[in-house]
Amino acid sequence: MILSIESSCDDSSIAITEIATKKLIYHKKISQELEHSRYGGVVPELASRLHAEALPAILAECEPWFGSLKAVAVTNEPGLGVTLIEGVIMAKALSLSLSIPIIPVNHLKGHIYSLFIEKEAILPVTVLLVSGGHTQLIEVESFESMRTVATTMDDSYGESFDKVAKMMALGYPGGPLIEQLALRGDPNAFAFTVPLWQSPKIAFSYSGLKNQVRLAVEASDPSAYPDIAAAFQKTATEHLIQKLKRYFKTNPPERFAVVGGASANRYLRAELEKILAPHKAALLLAELKYCSDNAAMIGRVAIEHFLRGEVRSCRDIPVNPRCKL
Ligand code: KG4
Ligand code: ZN
Repeated sequence: MILSIESSCDDSSIAITEIATKKLIYHKKISQELEHSRYGGVVPELASRLHAEALPAILAECEPWFGSLKAVAVTNEPGLGVTLIEGVIMAKALSLSLSIPIIPVNHLKGHIYSLFIEKEAILPVTVLLVSGGHTQLIEVESFESMRTVATTMDDSYGESFDKVAKMMALGYPGGPLIEQLALRGDPNAFAFTVPLWQSPKIAFSYSGLKNQVRLAVEASDPSAYPDIAAAFQKTATEHLIQKLKRYFKTNPPERFAVVGGASANRYLRAELEKILAPHKAALLLAELKYCSDNAAMIGRVAIEHFLRGEVRSCRDIPVNPRCKL
């Protein structure tokens, strides 16, 4: 079995996965959403302190399996430096005390493999990763070969929901709050410009839309917030859809997946299904509980590394806050 740890942002999570069967034996996650909610976003130092409390509490429940562990896996990139270090320190301590190697795991690979928890991977697949930290279009050929073909020039899709929710003082995380509020609004009540709509470039940008929304919020009273939320969600999603349509013209998808915390958004899922229909490609999704950050997806990636002999000693685990795929 492999014990995996995730602490790259505001979720403390540990999983235990059986290597041969990929079966999830144990999985627990303690989210810090409530603690960060009043600040309208994640406060890194607070997150770090909360991981220092939550991770040992979860680990205590895993003791019965310590004797069966072949390796300990941990997210070491990308993420918040002060929170990644909490998981990495715990992994090093376990590696030393149980005399087992460490498997460092890239968080973005984790989101991609959230599609294959307790399953065999089906590749190749084109993946849209939409989370709080990332908005990326990735061609996944194999475990070894993943190519980012488009990324955001500034904010991410999920982050823009968080920032709009903050403008309306709704709390954190903004994604589910805005999605809920939008259900009561008219998406056509405000006409926001779709980012980069005239640009042939396959890239994403959310800072301009965020400013358009800020001006609308400042000029309106709270009774207009459902309309603003609905128009924002429509425009933010339309941006992804326009760029994907353009990309599909030269790269028609055989298999397409959306992963990451914001892949839970129902409006986005429905719009993606519409553009995939002409290509006869199904929309692959992770189970809802594995869309946001979790250690089960880190354990799933760790199995692939373990089977390829990609393990390290505990002195050899750097923390890379800004690393890509
Ligand atoms: O993957 P994740 O848990 O953490 C990162 O790796 O960033 O994603 C969290 C992000 C937050 O920005 C949150 O607002 C967004 O995912 N999110 C959503 C929804 N649920 C979560 N965004 C839009 N609609 C949602 N329903
Ligand atoms: Zn994530």
